[in-house]
This record gives sequence, C-alpha cells and structure tokens, in this order.
Amino acid sequence: MDKLKTPKRIRNHVNPLAYRDEYDFDGFENGKNIIVDIGAYRGEFGARLLDKFGDKKNFIFFEIRKPFENYLKQLFAEKENVRVFGGDAGRNLKNILEKSIRKGVKVEKIFINFPDPWFKKKHHKRRVINPDFLKELQDWLPSETEIVFQTDQKKLFNWTKKIIRKNGYFKIKTFVEPLWGVKTYWEEMKEKEGRRVYRMKFQRNEKNDEKSLWRKLFLF
Ligand SMILES: C[S@@+](CC[C@H](N)C(=O)[O-])C[C@H]1O[C@@H](n2cnc3c(N)ncnc32)[C@H](O)[C@@H]1O
Repeated sequence: MDKLKTPKRIRNHVNPLAYRDEYDFDGFENGKNIIVDIGAYRGEFGARLLDKFGDKKNFIFFEIRKPFENYLKQLFAEKENVRVFGGDAGRNLKNILEKSIRKGVKVEKIFINFPDPWFKKKHHKRRVINPDFLKELQDWLPSETEIVFQTDQKKLFNWTKKIIRKNGYFKIKTFVEPLWGVKTYWEEMKEKEGRRVYRMKFQRNEKNDEKSLWRKLFLF
C-alpha cells in the first residue's frame, strides 16, 4: 500500500445542512459495545481509543469533510471493529446505530469532541447538538448510552446545556478530567493555547421511557 498522506488541517467550516447523504449499516455482529466519535477529524482520538481497547469494542467514526473521511477509511481499513461514515452525523446517527441496537448491542458512548462552534445565531442550527437533534434522540437513544460533549467554547457549552435542559428528556453530569485519560487532538492544541476545557455527559433519563411512544412501538 502507498504511504498514507495525512491531510492538512482545514480551518474553514462546512455546512452540515448542505450534506443530505444518508447511510445505512447492518450493524456489528460481534455483540461488543459500540463507541461513536462524531467529527473524528484525522482519527487521532479514535486511534488512541483503539490503542486502549483494541478489539474489545466496536467503533463508529463520523467525519463530514471528505478528505478526512477518505483518510480515516484508509487509516482504519484493516480494523474489522471500525466503520467510518461521511456526511452529516446528525442526519445519519439513527440509521447507523438502529440495527445494532435492535440486535441488542450496547452503544456505550457517543463522543462529540470540540465540534465546530458556529458562533452566529443564524448558524446555531448547524451545530451538531441542536434542538432538532435532541428531539430526535429523545425517541430512540437507549437510556444507557452516554453522549460526551467537550469544548473550549464556554458560550457553546452553556448554550448546549441550556437546550438539553429545555428538551427535558436527558440528565446531565459535568466532569473535569478527560474520560479514560484519553485526549483529543483539538484538546491538546487548545491546552497549549492555555484554554480551559468544559466537559459534560448526558443520557436519556429512563424515567422518560413512558413518554417515548415511538421507542415503545418500534424498538422494544
Ligand atoms: C474542531 S474539529 C475537532 C476534531 C476532533 N473531534 C478533536 O477533538 O480533535 C471538528 C470536526 O468535526 C467535523 N464535523 C463538523 N460537523 C460535522 C457533522 N455534522 N458530522 C460529522 N462531522 C462533523 C469537522 O469536519 C471536524 O473534523
């Protein structure tokens, strides 16, 4: 195989709402827990998780930028427990995870690390975690699945906390140290700049299972 060339850092953001591609996935057959990374970039965080867990877990990486998607696909081509998907993760998360969940596979964590902040108010709907994304998750996300959100953007962090609380289906826990001691590429970069990192985990509150009609009818 030719030597894999690392794509350069790309600074400009891509509008996720412009990506309408939808993907499907039959699910993992090996029954091992799934870890999802949304915005996997050049796979630095993913590779560190693989170093830590090897083939004990399954991994799904989403990356909207085509050069990074292609790179990740090559980087992890030999790993049977890794799948890489392009396009907008928000649009595809349910399609990709649903069949595994139906087979009884546990989605352990969904990481959303240092997502593009989309500062302008009119662009807030482009944020990975936005009110529509939460509204969809509230119906199908298993209550055992934790979504891990980390950012150096205080305003984004507080806005995200606010919309999660407003949605009402999830419980939130903030935390200080990186989970499993594993840092992301962006995190290391921001730390070097002396920036603070804000972290939270949230998951569906099982008390709300009763309210979730779609979930009752179709998943269990
Ligand atoms: C600021 S970088 C953070 C990279 C990495 N998570 C880290 O912490 O080192 C954000 C990444 O998310 C990707 N991204 C942004 N919106 C996305 C979306 N809707 N779906 C999938 N990936 C997305 C970007 O292309 C970029 O690679």
